[in-house]
Amino acid sequence: MAAKPKIFVTRPLPAPVLELLAARGELRFHAEDSPIATERLAEACREVEGLVVCGTRVPEAVLIQAPSLRVVANVGVGYDNVDLAACTSRGILVTNTAGVLEETTADLAFALLLAVARRIVEGDHYVREGCWKRWEWGLLWGADLYRKTLGIYGFGHIGQALARRGCGFSMRILYHSRHRASEAVERQLRAKYVDRDTLLRESDYLSLHVPFTPETRHLIKAEDFRRMRPTAFLINTARGPVLDEEALAAALRDRAIAGAGLDVFEAEPRVHPDLLGLPNVVLTPHVGSATGETRLQMAMLAAENLLAALEGKRPPNLVNPEVLGQ
Ligand code: 8YV
Repeated sequence: MAAKPKIFVTRPLPAPVLELLAARGELRFHAEDSPIATERLAEACREVEGLVVCGTRVPEAVLIQAPSLRVVANVGVGYDNVDLAACTSRGILVTNTAGVLEETTADLAFALLLAVARRIVEGDHYVREGCWKRWEWGLLWGADLYRKTLGIYGFGHIGQALARRGCGFSMRILYHSRHRASEAVERQLRAKYVDRDTLLRESDYLSLHVPFTPETRHLIKAEDFRRMRPTAFLINTARGPVLDEEALAAALRDRAIAGAGLDVFEAEPRVHPDLLGLPNVVLTPHVGSATGETRLQMAMLAAENLLAALEGKRPPNLVNPEVLGQ
């Protein structure tokens, strides 16, 4: 019988997932729920054929020291943490977990949108801190969603899932994306394709859903906040570097825009200090996909991708098919 492939996992993933991997491979894993240092990862990968990563950077320096590596299965839809070009050139398959976390992430984007529009966090602090002495007519006025314009930048599965939520709130849906959606999708979601400038100018709520690539770094920058409405809100659940955080903090401080809801940051877990003092921004710690059901599905899907690749099958979520000559 052939030896079982060596597998390394960078987080203590749920027991059923680790059991599945242990049944089909020789499993080792980083038992702490914290990022493993790159040197330790490189050390751990020396003989492994399969690597499951979750919130872990996989730079070329690790790949160089992992001559047997055949597949990197990322637990997450965005795989900017993995040096894809370096994997591809070494013939290493890379997979993600598209298909199981889009609705959950759209829920969080919509939750941030509601929270910042209706000042939920400010209200919570107001009550807890004992400031609420009487009912007041002018207390904590927020902004409506009903019939407002929801602008979606990036119209993949998460962007489209957000559009469905916007439809439920009778919002007007505009989107801008690299690829225009089919007529059927546009009709079903009542979504209108517009150019970038129109999206910035007409959105009451602008939500970002683009992947992070060299082309999308600082996609939203200082001059864009001047194009947006002073009453507009910006939501980012995609990746921190797609917007210039310093310029955003200045725009929020100067009221160039009304508010923001952010789940992702340029240098996580560091948040730009200017943002921390502002009342018109709601901050969450990169928890877009963080529900029990979804995290289990993500981990299981990553394991299935990994095992498929190790068993010579095409993994369901392969992101570099060119490795297989496809
Ligand atoms: C992951 C995410 O939890 O899927 C993504 O792209 O940002 C999150 O769902 C995160 O990438 C950790 O792997």
